[in-house]
Amino acid sequence: IPVDPFDLVIFGATGDLARRKILPALFRRVMAGQAPNGSRIIGASRSDLDNAAFQKLTKEAIHEFVPKSDYKSADLDGFLAMLSYQTIDAFSDAGWGELASALQKGANPVRAFYLSVSPSLITSTTQHMKAFDLITPETRVVVEKPLGTDLASAKALNETLRDAFDESQIYRIDHYLGKETVQNLMALRFANIFLEPLWNAKYVDHVQITVAESVTVEGRGEYYDTSGAMRDMIQNHLMQLLCLVAMEPPAHFEADSVRNEKLKVIHALSPVDIRDTVRAQYRASDKTGSYLDHVNDPHSRTESYVAIKTEVSNWRWAGVPFYLRTGKALKKRVSEITLIFKQVPHSIFPDLADDYQNKLVIRLQPEEGITLHMTVKEPGPGGMRLTEVPLDMSFAEIIPDNVAIDAYERLIMDAIRGNQTLFMRGDEVEAAWGWTDHIIEQWNASSSKPVTYDQGSTGPEDAIALMARDNRRWQRLDAV
Ligand code: BG6
Repeated sequence: IPVDPFDLVIFGATGDLARRKILPALFRRVMAGQAPNGSRIIGASRSDLDNAAFQKLTKEAIHEFVPKSDYKSADLDGFLAMLSYQTIDAFSDAGWGELASALQKGANPVRAFYLSVSPSLITSTTQHMKAFDLITPETRVVVEKPLGTDLASAKALNETLRDAFDESQIYRIDHYLGKETVQNLMALRFANIFLEPLWNAKYVDHVQITVAESVTVEGRGEYYDTSGAMRDMIQNHLMQLLCLVAMEPPAHFEADSVRNEKLKVIHALSPVDIRDTVRAQYRASDKTGSYLDHVNDPHSRTESYVAIKTEVSNWRWAGVPFYLRTGKALKKRVSEITLIFKQVPHSIFPDLADDYQNKLVIRLQPEEGITLHMTVKEPGPGGMRLTEVPLDMSFAEIIPDNVAIDAYERLIMDAIRGNQTLFMRGDEVEAAWGWTDHIIEQWNASSSKPVTYDQGSTGPEDAIALMARDNRRWQRLDAV
């Protein structure tokens, strides 16, 4: 989709997210020809830099985060020429007048403001944007987690944002929604007829959503310990995946149609009882310290792992458990969604195991793809011997000229273009916090502490027990 020349202002332009994600993503999109002539990127932050210093900083970020083989030096020079910088102070008027006059005027210029700043700076930043008349009808504001730490703070943040912007101008990033396979989930469900008749409580036994990470929290323990797996991953990324799996078909592939359906899913989630949750911290290993070492607090009760059983209480899903799990320092980095189907109602094959179940696995990372596990006859003589085979589709194989783009590239361009489909609406975020708060409050009120698990394992014993209680098992983390 063509886009008009735009001004993108990055508040917090000297920060880590800008360096690692935003600037490299913009560089790639600019190289792909998606920034028409006249588009500009303006860095803004408290650091006292000039244009040349910001360009230098950006150049270093590109060197660090974009492989040299992906670009020519002329590409980088062209990108750097789009950049300028303005020192501003979120708490005073310093620099704001200059920023206002640096922006393109024209009839209705496209302006995107990326608030890559700490939550404590958001209110004063948006108030200054308002006071200095930076907000035009074609202005968008991009914000990112933490979008609050509980329902009350999420509401306060939404009020702050809505005080300056219309909801249609607010782009709340959950970078999972920008991942290729997450969108593919919508294509799989709503561009094909054959799955929909099976996509319900009649045929689905249960759903598992796993986002396992092998990294520890070493190095970012201070932030992480104020958050924990529940706030860091479940409230946002896993919740969004759950919504996309469970939602009704939207009438249109359009922002509010999709978001209305996701919101209905969150509203239908049963409140989770503490007995249906497992929270855990990783233990020390030979090579590295424990969670408590990494956050430098021997008394921390923050979880680096969580497993939850929940249910979407509506006609489509009644009685189908959704098991969610996520954690750090696990065996493998793997994100996947698995639908486990019910058994055949009546087996005519002695060879078909009593507990055999078809499975549909949607792999988000690392190797994106979709696998349908099914039973076939083993070829050759020897009677009706059955075996399970994967019907396996790997995106890297079927689309060899892989043009997959990073989540940030997609999301930033969608924000510039004014397409909110892959962004969370304020009411969605609040509803997700309401559900999450209920669990966290029970944990806080309980005298129990997180259990522990070995680094490099598949998680704590209690999580296995959570499934075993229902005669079920987690998908193997190293299945691929
Ligand atoms: C972030 C969390 O939102 O997502 C991190 O704060 C986590 O703790 C990361 O590591 C995972 O993202 P991805 O894209 O690597 O799966």
